[in-house]
Amino acid sequence: MKFFVDTADIDEIRDLATTGLLDGVTTNPSLIAKSGRDFLDVIAEICDIVDGPVSGEVTALDYEGMIKEGEVVLAIADNVALKVPLTVDGLKACKYFADKGRMVNVTLCFSAAQALLAAKAGASFISPFVGRHDDIGQDGMSLIEDIRTIYDNYDFKTEILVASVRHPIHVTDAARIGADVCTIPPKVIRQLSKHPLTDNGLAAFMDDWAKTGQTILK
Ligand code: G3P
Repeated sequence: MKFFVDTADIDEIRDLATTGLLDGVTTNPSLIAKSGRDFLDVIAEICDIVDGPVSGEVTALDYEGMIKEGEVVLAIADNVALKVPLTVDGLKACKYFADKGRMVNVTLCFSAAQALLAAKAGASFISPFVGRHDDIGQDGMSLIEDIRTIYDNYDFKTEILVASVRHPIHVTDAARIGADVCTIPPKVIRQLSKHPLTDNGLAAFMDDWAKTGQTILK
């Protein structure tokens, strides 16, 4: 499963890129606003840091506007994936750019029916928001299972990009189901490696090693 980081914070992206774990980046208008940066500048800078797909989202709501904005955003770099909302206009724009061979990430997906439409529109990625389902007491991961089944039934090439991730269980559940990508906030990526028994075990090893009085480096 590919790991994308879900942020527009350049310092976070640079730091996590050094781990070798980053296969891509996703942003959205809220994350861009949080960064305080110019949208086009920050997407260009991210594309210089990460070779994988970097999602930049249109803000137009109409098809014609999405095409005009999409041309500008996709001109930034070859690894830009254009993010469009799961609306009829967004699906039309998805088809337009997919037919031109450009990566499109269809976002704000909350149903299997929506995901089916995105695959038929030629989306490179579909972004179902699991956390926002959980936030209202629904089971976000059951949506991922439904989409996985439907996509496998028809061998759709659209990659399932699990989004709106809130904790490590979302990540491992996504991998268990067979999602292609999980886009993860920096905080959650860092949580993935943490376990108290690892910390305790390491401390015990160091204590016992210290008693030997030995050093590996002479
Ligand atoms: O960027 C898309 C998605 O990951 C946003 O998630 O946390 O705003 O529900 P969130």
